[in-house]
Amino acid sequence: MSEHKWWQNAVVYQIYPRSFQDSNGDGIGDLKGIIQRLSYLEELGIDVIWLSPVYRSPQDDNGYDISDYRDIDPMFGTLEDMEELIREAKKHGIRIVMDLVLNHSSDEHIWFQEAKKSRDNPYHDYYVWRDGKEGVLPNEMKAAFGGSAWEWVPEVQQYYFHQFSIKQPDLNWENPKVRREIYDMILWWMEKGVGGFRLDVIDQIAKEPDLGITANGPRLHEYIREMSKETFQKGDLITVGEAWGADTKRAKLYSNPDGSEFSMVFQFEHVGLDQQEGKTKWDLAPLPLIKLKQTLAKWQTELHGCGWNSLFWNNHDLPRIVSRWGNDREYRKESAKMLAAVLHGMQGTPYIYQGEELGMTNVYFEDISHYRDIETLNLYEERLKEGYKPEDILASIHAKGRDNARTPMQWDDSENAGFTRGTPWIEVNPNYTQIHAKESMQDPDSVFHFYQKLIRIRKEYLVVSEGSFTLLYEEDPQIFAYVRTLGTQELLVCANFSKEPVVCPVIEEWKDARMLTHNYQTPLQKEFKPYEAVILFRDKKGAAR
Ligand code: GLC
Ligand code: CA
Repeated sequence: MSEHKWWQNAVVYQIYPRSFQDSNGDGIGDLKGIIQRLSYLEELGIDVIWLSPVYRSPQDDNGYDISDYRDIDPMFGTLEDMEELIREAKKHGIRIVMDLVLNHSSDEHIWFQEAKKSRDNPYHDYYVWRDGKEGVLPNEMKAAFGGSAWEWVPEVQQYYFHQFSIKQPDLNWENPKVRREIYDMILWWMEKGVGGFRLDVIDQIAKEPDLGITANGPRLHEYIREMSKETFQKGDLITVGEAWGADTKRAKLYSNPDGSEFSMVFQFEHVGLDQQEGKTKWDLAPLPLIKLKQTLAKWQTELHGCGWNSLFWNNHDLPRIVSRWGNDREYRKESAKMLAAVLHGMQGTPYIYQGEELGMTNVYFEDISHYRDIETLNLYEERLKEGYKPEDILASIHAKGRDNARTPMQWDDSENAGFTRGTPWIEVNPNYTQIHAKESMQDPDSVFHFYQKLIRIRKEYLVVSEGSFTLLYEEDPQIFAYVRTLGTQELLVCANFSKEPVVCPVIEEWKDARMLTHNYQTPLQKEFKPYEAVILFRDKKGAAR
């Protein structure tokens, strides 16, 4: 058994700063706004805030295009505000995790401004260039946000490589100078007292464009180990890599308990289950529950004792889980709680995305003009050209668009949901009059209080952070149930993942167990109501604790 790390029973809360709380009426959330809401987060019980990028940026991809890694964008505040946030959060027992975007910078970063001047500029080799002729692309590789991955620069008569937008040129990790610059920058933030880092698309840093390789390049783990040794290992941090291409084998490297890489990674195997095979996330398909269970169970069992999972349904790139795999109409609260129970009963570090704790839903804008996300806007144009009907493209956007997660946080039922006194950069979800934090804080039976309870359970019962995992009813298309075991202690999470009632016979065997939480007020019976979920605990050594 490896020693217990502080982040192994921590709960992380992700803030998307531009949509969380505006403090000065310009319609954009900011650092001062976050400071105002720290007591709310303390009340919820979280330990860590992961902040999506607040660095200086032209905001082509909402801050995932950084033009200065050592400064804060004026839109969000100042470096002093950031220092204040770190200090104030600490008073509430909360650490701040910064988002590190290291695969690419902004094209407005001074490095790129220099790099594109001439081939012998000292910064030229900070980026990935290929010779060619204008109009003759080095190869057919595509960028994630549409179009070619290559962009021509006449001054140097070369193409640069960009896996994301044209304004996000890829950094050249093969250049040791680039790596050194990055490590120094990380150390600089560590000195400021940040609690850790989330590493954006980290599995794409070791790209090999000539071989068509984006994720999982040959030198990937070599780079990560070097970075970890030069930086993270000098502190007691939580680090999480975003790795769309991770399988369990690779995840064991990333989250090796010896600390040689990261604390954990975000894997996305479960996230891709509701799309047509071999197609994109926009090509919708219903969720096969049995596959979801198999996938999560595999991650639970294979990493147990030799790696560490992150647990999440949501982030700023994903649709709202209650709309996606729950029911955001008549069973909104029940299904939001059910999804929370299923996730928070597992082993790993849970991540709550802002508003998830209120059961916030997707937004269904009727017209493309309401959308702001570069990925969504590019998709719309691209599919129109390919002959798709506007209503079909919108249906995909309603289901999967990133703006679903990016509408402003719903604080109360005043105008603009208490997010801003100005005009919000993206419209508030019209359902804010019903769904908001003020109501949730007052109602003891709210989704908020259910999350609060789950966080407490994780801290109180060691079996949640340490126990092994056994899936029950593997082939059942409605029930999601599992048992966690640690010595004589057992935890049962049993949920109806559907709108139709279903019988869960296992409940009979757990009659004498202690009920830790339940999303219905009615007595527990073996027939489960729509989206009903319960967590039970027992200790075979007599007393139930
Ligand atoms: C990650 C981020 C996403 C961003 C992309 C490029 O996937 O989560 O928001 O657009 O990387 O940086
Ligand atoms: Ca503001």
